[in-house]
Amino acid sequence: MRKNIVAGNWKMNKSFSEAETLICDILDGLDKIDEPLADVVICPPALYLEMAVDLIRETPVCIGAQNMSQFASGAYTGEISASMLQSMEVQYCILGHSERRKYFNETDAQLAQKVDSALANDVLPIFCCGEELSEREAGNHQNVVKGQIENALFHLTPDQFANVVIAYEPIWAIGTGVTASPEQAQEMHEFIRGIVVGKYGKAIAEETSILYGGSCNAKNAKELFAKPDIDGGLIGGAALVAEDFLTIIKSF
Ligand code: 13P
Repeated sequence: MRKNIVAGNWKMNKSFSEAETLICDILDGLDKIDEPLADVVICPPALYLEMAVDLIRETPVCIGAQNMSQFASGAYTGEISASMLQSMEVQYCILGHSERRKYFNETDAQLAQKVDSALANDVLPIFCCGEELSEREAGNHQNVVKGQIENALFHLTPDQFANVVIAYEPIWAIGTGVTASPEQAQEMHEFIRGIVVGKYGKAIAEETSILYGGSCNAKNAKELFAKPDIDGGLIGGAALVAEDFLTIIKSF
Protein backbone atom coordinates (compact mmCIF):
# COMPACT_ATOMS: atom_id res chain seq x y z
CA MET A 1 0.00 0.00 0.00
CA ARG A 2 1.22 3.50 -0.73
CA LYS A 3 2.47 5.50 2.23
CA ASN A 4 0.79 8.53 3.72
CA ILE A 5 3.51 11.08 4.40
CA VAL A 6 3.47 14.42 6.17
CA ALA A 7 6.71 16.31 5.57
CA GLY A 8 7.61 19.64 7.13
CA ASN A 9 9.73 21.98 5.02
CA TRP A 10 11.08 24.50 7.48
CA LYS A 11 12.76 26.55 4.72
CA MET A 12 15.20 29.17 6.17
CA ASN A 13 13.59 29.51 9.58
CA LYS A 14 14.39 28.96 13.30
CA SER A 15 17.50 29.38 15.44
CA PHE A 16 19.31 26.26 16.61
CA SER A 17 17.60 26.23 20.02
CA GLU A 18 14.19 26.97 18.50
CA ALA A 19 14.73 24.08 16.11
CA GLU A 20 15.61 21.73 18.97
CA THR A 21 12.51 22.78 20.89
CA LEU A 22 10.26 22.33 17.87
CA ILE A 23 11.54 18.83 17.16
CA CYS A 24 11.16 17.85 20.84
CA ASP A 25 7.61 19.24 20.91
CA ILE A 26 6.71 17.29 17.76
CA LEU A 27 8.19 14.09 19.22
CA ASP A 28 6.29 14.62 22.49
CA GLY A 29 3.06 15.09 20.56
CA LEU A 30 3.66 12.02 18.41
CA ASP A 31 4.17 9.95 21.55
CA LYS A 32 0.59 10.72 22.51
CA ILE A 33 -0.84 9.50 19.21
CA ASP A 34 -1.65 5.77 19.41
CA GLU A 35 -0.74 4.91 15.88
CA PRO A 36 0.19 7.76 13.57
CA LEU A 37 -1.45 7.17 10.21
CA ALA A 38 1.33 8.90 8.32
CA ASP A 39 5.09 8.74 8.07
CA VAL A 40 6.54 11.98 9.38
CA VAL A 41 9.52 13.69 7.77
CA ILE A 42 11.10 16.85 9.19
CA CYS A 43 13.28 18.92 6.84
CA PRO A 44 15.16 21.54 8.87
CA PRO A 45 17.91 23.82 7.54
CA ALA A 46 21.07 21.86 6.64
CA LEU A 47 23.03 23.20 9.62
CA TYR A 48 20.62 21.47 12.00
CA LEU A 49 20.50 18.07 10.30
CA GLU A 50 22.98 16.45 12.67
CA MET A 51 21.09 17.64 15.75
CA ALA A 52 17.79 16.57 14.18
CA VAL A 53 19.05 13.09 13.32
CA ASP A 54 20.29 12.67 16.90
CA LEU A 55 16.94 13.71 18.35
CA ILE A 56 14.78 11.42 16.20
CA ARG A 57 16.93 8.30 16.68
CA GLU A 58 14.71 5.41 17.88
CA THR A 59 11.55 7.29 16.92
CA PRO A 60 9.48 6.68 13.77
CA VAL A 61 10.31 10.19 12.45
CA CYS A 62 12.61 10.67 9.47
CA ILE A 63 14.82 13.63 8.65
CA GLY A 64 15.16 15.20 5.23
CA ALA A 65 17.36 17.90 3.71
CA GLN A 66 15.90 20.77 1.70
CA ASN A 67 18.42 20.62 -1.13
CA MET A 68 21.65 18.92 -2.21
CA SER A 69 24.23 19.20 -4.95
CA GLN A 70 23.99 17.33 -8.22
CA PHE A 71 27.76 16.70 -7.97
CA ALA A 72 29.34 13.80 -6.11
CA SER A 73 32.28 15.61 -4.44
CA GLY A 74 35.05 18.11 -5.08
CA ALA A 75 35.52 21.82 -5.62
CA TYR A 76 31.91 23.04 -5.22
CA THR A 77 32.20 25.60 -2.43
CA GLY A 78 29.17 25.76 -0.19
CA GLU A 79 27.52 22.63 -1.51
CA ILE A 80 26.41 19.44 0.25
CA SER A 81 26.41 16.08 -1.54
CA ALA A 82 24.03 13.15 -1.39
CA SER A 83 26.76 10.93 0.02
CA MET A 84 27.29 13.44 2.84
CA LEU A 85 23.57 13.31 3.61
CA GLN A 86 23.70 9.53 3.60
CA SER A 87 26.71 9.54 5.92
CA MET A 88 24.68 11.70 8.35
CA GLU A 89 21.72 9.26 8.21
CA VAL A 90 19.52 11.78 6.43
CA GLN A 91 16.88 9.72 4.65
CA TYR A 92 15.05 12.19 2.41
CA CYS A 93 15.86 15.27 0.37
CA ILE A 94 13.41 17.79 -1.09
CA LEU A 95 14.42 18.41 -4.70
CA GLY A 96 13.18 21.01 -7.16
CA HIS A 97 11.23 23.17 -4.76
CA SER A 98 9.83 26.13 -6.70
CA GLU A 99 11.84 28.52 -4.50
CA ARG A 100 15.04 26.79 -5.63
CA ARG A 101 13.91 26.85 -9.24
CA LYS A 102 13.05 30.56 -8.97
CA TYR A 103 15.82 32.05 -6.79
CA PHE A 104 18.65 29.62 -7.59
CA ASN A 105 17.81 28.91 -11.22
CA GLU A 106 17.53 25.16 -10.82
CA THR A 107 16.65 23.52 -14.11
CA ASP A 108 14.95 20.24 -14.93
CA ALA A 109 18.29 18.95 -16.27
CA GLN A 110 20.06 19.70 -12.96
CA LEU A 111 17.18 18.16 -11.07
CA ALA A 112 17.47 14.97 -13.10
CA GLN A 113 21.11 14.79 -11.98
CA LYS A 114 20.20 15.52 -8.37
CA VAL A 115 17.56 12.79 -8.41
CA ASP A 116 20.15 10.33 -9.76
CA SER A 117 22.69 11.31 -7.14
CA ALA A 118 20.17 11.07 -4.31
CA LEU A 119 18.99 7.61 -5.36
CA ALA A 120 22.55 6.37 -5.87
CA ASN A 121 23.18 7.24 -2.22
CA ASP A 122 19.93 5.85 -0.80
CA VAL A 123 18.50 9.31 -0.16
CA LEU A 124 14.80 9.37 -1.07
CA PRO A 125 13.84 12.35 -3.23
CA ILE A 126 10.72 14.38 -2.48
CA PHE A 127 10.42 15.80 -5.97
CA CYS A 128 8.46 19.06 -6.22
CA CYS A 129 6.47 20.20 -9.21
CA GLY A 130 3.83 22.86 -9.72
CA GLU A 131 2.64 25.67 -11.93
CA GLU A 132 2.50 29.47 -11.74
CA LEU A 133 -0.92 31.13 -11.51
CA SER A 134 -0.54 32.51 -15.05
CA GLU A 135 0.07 28.99 -16.35
CA ARG A 136 -3.08 27.75 -14.64
CA GLU A 137 -5.08 30.68 -15.94
CA ALA A 138 -3.86 29.91 -19.44
CA GLY A 139 -5.06 26.33 -19.00
CA ASN A 140 -1.47 25.07 -19.26
CA HIS A 141 -0.98 23.79 -15.70
CA GLN A 142 -1.13 20.09 -16.55
CA ASN A 143 1.39 20.47 -19.38
CA VAL A 144 3.80 22.35 -17.12
CA VAL A 145 3.67 19.71 -14.39
CA LYS A 146 3.90 16.89 -16.94
CA GLY A 147 7.04 18.48 -18.42
CA GLN A 148 8.67 18.90 -14.99
CA ILE A 149 8.03 15.26 -14.12
CA GLU A 150 9.05 13.85 -17.51
CA ASN A 151 12.25 15.91 -17.68
CA ALA A 152 13.51 15.22 -14.19
CA LEU A 153 12.18 11.73 -13.43
CA PHE A 154 11.27 9.68 -16.47
CA HIS A 155 14.83 8.59 -17.27
CA LEU A 156 14.66 6.49 -14.07
CA THR A 157 14.23 2.73 -14.16
CA PRO A 158 11.00 1.45 -12.57
CA ASP A 159 12.99 0.23 -9.55
CA GLN A 160 14.52 3.67 -9.11
CA PHE A 161 11.25 5.50 -9.63
CA ALA A 162 9.61 3.39 -6.94
CA ASN A 163 11.73 5.30 -4.38
CA VAL A 164 10.57 8.77 -5.43
CA VAL A 165 7.93 10.79 -3.57
CA ILE A 166 6.21 13.48 -5.64
CA ALA A 167 4.99 16.75 -4.12
CA TYR A 168 2.56 18.85 -6.12
CA GLU A 169 2.95 22.46 -4.99
CA PRO A 170 1.10 25.04 -7.06
CA ILE A 171 3.31 28.12 -6.82
CA TRP A 172 0.33 30.43 -6.37
CA ALA A 173 -0.62 28.54 -3.20
CA ILE A 174 2.80 28.59 -1.50
CA GLY A 175 2.95 30.93 1.47
CA THR A 176 -0.05 32.88 0.19
CA GLY A 177 -2.82 31.48 2.37
CA VAL A 178 -4.61 30.53 -0.84
CA THR A 179 -4.89 26.74 -0.93
CA ALA A 180 -5.77 24.79 -4.02
CA SER A 181 -9.29 23.52 -3.44
CA PRO A 182 -9.41 19.80 -2.63
CA GLU A 183 -10.98 19.33 -6.08
CA GLN A 184 -8.23 21.27 -7.87
CA ALA A 185 -5.54 19.37 -5.99
CA GLN A 186 -7.22 15.99 -6.57
CA GLU A 187 -7.56 16.73 -10.28
CA MET A 188 -3.82 17.38 -10.58
CA HIS A 189 -2.84 14.44 -8.37
CA GLU A 190 -5.01 12.12 -10.46
CA PHE A 191 -3.42 13.55 -13.59
CA ILE A 192 0.09 12.98 -12.17
CA ARG A 193 -0.75 9.40 -11.22
CA GLY A 194 -2.07 8.91 -14.74
CA ILE A 195 1.24 10.04 -16.27
CA VAL A 196 3.07 7.65 -13.96
CA VAL A 197 0.72 4.81 -15.04
CA GLY A 198 1.57 5.64 -18.67
CA LYS A 199 5.32 5.45 -18.04
CA TYR A 200 5.75 2.84 -15.31
CA GLY A 201 2.44 0.97 -15.16
CA LYS A 202 -0.42 0.79 -12.69
CA ALA A 203 1.34 -1.17 -9.95
CA ILE A 204 4.11 1.40 -9.48
CA ALA A 205 1.74 4.36 -9.89
CA GLU A 206 -0.54 2.98 -7.17
CA GLU A 207 2.47 2.76 -4.82
CA THR A 208 3.68 6.30 -5.51
CA SER A 209 3.01 8.79 -2.72
CA ILE A 210 1.88 12.14 -4.12
CA LEU A 211 1.87 14.93 -1.52
CA TYR A 212 0.11 18.28 -1.74
CA GLY A 213 1.88 21.49 -0.70
CA GLY A 214 0.77 25.11 -0.65
CA SER A 215 -0.93 26.72 2.37
CA CYS A 216 -1.90 23.30 3.69
CA ASN A 217 -2.69 23.83 7.36
CA ALA A 218 -4.36 22.39 10.45
CA LYS A 219 -7.77 23.54 9.19
CA ASN A 220 -7.75 22.30 5.61
CA ALA A 221 -5.53 19.20 5.76
CA LYS A 222 -8.36 16.75 6.50
CA GLU A 223 -10.38 17.74 3.47
CA LEU A 224 -7.32 17.59 1.21
CA PHE A 225 -6.09 14.23 2.55
CA ALA A 226 -9.57 12.72 2.13
CA LYS A 227 -9.11 12.86 -1.64
CA PRO A 228 -8.15 9.51 -3.16
CA ASP A 229 -4.93 10.64 -4.85
CA ILE A 230 -3.64 12.96 -2.10
CA ASP A 231 -1.30 10.93 0.07
CA GLY A 232 -0.25 13.62 2.50
CA GLY A 233 1.36 17.02 2.51
CA LEU A 234 4.56 18.98 2.19
CA ILE A 235 3.97 21.65 4.77
CA GLY A 236 5.73 25.03 5.03
CA GLY A 237 4.46 27.63 7.50
CA ALA A 238 2.26 25.25 9.50
CA ALA A 239 5.24 22.92 10.06
CA LEU A 240 6.88 25.62 12.18
CA VAL A 241 4.24 25.31 14.91
CA ALA A 242 4.26 21.93 16.69
CA GLU A 243 0.54 21.91 17.47
CA ASP A 244 -0.43 22.69 13.87
CA PHE A 245 1.99 20.15 12.42
CA LEU A 246 0.66 17.48 14.80
CA THR A 247 -2.94 18.29 13.85
CA ILE A 248 -1.98 17.84 10.20
CA ILE A 249 -0.36 14.48 10.97
CA LYS A 250 -3.64 13.42 12.62
CA SER A 251 -5.71 14.49 9.61
CA PHE A 252 -6.02 11.12 7.84
P1 13P B 1 3.37 26.88 2.83
O1 13P B 1 2.76 25.70 3.52
O2 13P B 1 3.97 27.87 3.77
O3 13P B 1 2.46 27.48 1.81
O4 13P B 1 4.64 26.30 2.00
C1 13P B 1 4.46 25.19 1.24
C2 13P B 1 5.80 24.74 0.76
O5 13P B 1 6.44 25.41 -0.02
C3 13P B 1 6.33 23.49 1.28
O6 13P B 1 7.44 23.06 0.57
